[in-house]
Amino acid sequence: MEHDLIVEGLAATPSGVEPLQIGITDGKIAELKRSGLKAGRRLRDERCVIFPGFIDVHVHLREPGWEHKEDFLTGTMAAVHGGVTTLFDMPNNPEPADSREALARKAELSKGKVADVMFFGGVRRDRLSAIPSIKELVVGYKIFMSQTTGSAPFPLSKLREALEVIGSTSKPASVHAEDQSVIDAASSEVKASSAPDRYADARPPEAEVGAVRELLSVLTRCSADVRVNVCHVSTSSALNLIRGARRSGANVVCEATLHHLFFTRRDMLRSPMLRTNPPLRTDGDRRALLEGLAGGSVDFLVSDHAPHTREEKLSSGAAGVPGLDNYGNIVSWLIKKRGLSPSTVSMVTSANQARFFRLHDRGSITVGARADLAVLDLDSPETASADSVRSKCGWSPYEGKRFPGRVKWTVSAGRVVYEDGVAG
Ligand code: DOR
Ligand code: ZN
Ligand code: ZN
Repeated sequence: MEHDLIVEGLAATPSGVEPLQIGITDGKIAELKRSGLKAGRRLRDERCVIFPGFIDVHVHLREPGWEHKEDFLTGTMAAVHGGVTTLFDMPNNPEPADSREALARKAELSKGKVADVMFFGGVRRDRLSAIPSIKELVVGYKIFMSQTTGSAPFPLSKLREALEVIGSTSKPASVHAEDQSVIDAASSEVKASSAPDRYADARPPEAEVGAVRELLSVLTRCSADVRVNVCHVSTSSALNLIRGARRSGANVVCEATLHHLFFTRRDMLRSPMLRTNPPLRTDGDRRALLEGLAGGSVDFLVSDHAPHTREEKLSSGAAGVPGLDNYGNIVSWLIKKRGLSPSTVSMVTSANQARFFRLHDRGSITVGARADLAVLDLDSPETASADSVRSKCGWSPYEGKRFPGRVKWTVSAGRVVYEDGVAG
């Protein structure tokens, strides 16, 4: 049989790296062999490693409402530039995505783009009964325990009830865990004129640690079976709490962001653009996250792509950094500079996500799966620059940083949607 496309080279699987020909027909992986496959088109480069397309479970694409920051077209172009073929969009739009109407509108707007977009549903404190009504439209529910871009804090007093209702839908909850009362108290101590890295003291480690402790304690008291993902863990103490809870049987997983793995709060002194919630932390925290990623206690590598314009960052101090464009660069850095194996990378970039969020058609290179692939050249250094950014915000926190490798090709449902050096 002649396939539409063959992708050929070293393929990363949970058990290691092996030479493989991946035969793709009608958008799916149709055949896997060592040799002998035939096709109309062939992508092959000995230096490259082929990964299942990256699944980024934490992205803010801003449409509708904030299209000057990003929209589904530019956001998905940035995604495939980074090797991301599936992304989960967060609900904190100006009109929150917490109703059937708002989610149906987003689904319509995001159709037919180069990466597959799925949605988190928002959770309103005064409308917990609406949670089940959107379950078919969402991949999970997002709860913000503190105030952040476009979102008010969800009250602790309602957290258990919210998690129990979410549990009844069989979809998981992703939780932004920072304690607003700790932030309020700490913020009043930090003057606006302080050094830029003092932002990390205005949202101190205790805000995250306290909120994670509360969340885990509520989780153990829930009557319903609910799966929880702790978003963007930034401190070693919070990671330890999650590890401990998991050891005692709690159904909890967690994420680390590209920026919390790469930068520390000291980097904020050089760049006023690095303000995020939660803030960047110490080198000890960063190392703990890297070890967690290598050792299995951090489940998901996420961008938390949160684009704002340069102007918004500099004038109003908007929190959040873009990251989708550089996802593949960071993967190359994790492998070449931080010693992560390609098989570990395949777990934290796709297999774990597919299992936890129950996406049965993707997350591994197997016959019958959607043909989503990220092909990385790990020996082709690239210096990140604003010029190469496809995100509408037009800048990157990594500008000037040199990475060991880059994405060479991205294949989404059998289509070559990104090719290094080819404008698209
Ligand atoms: O820094 C952040 N930016 N943290 C969040 O939780 C939200 C995000 C955004 O949407 O801008
Ligand atoms: Zn968040
Ligand atoms: Zn976020």
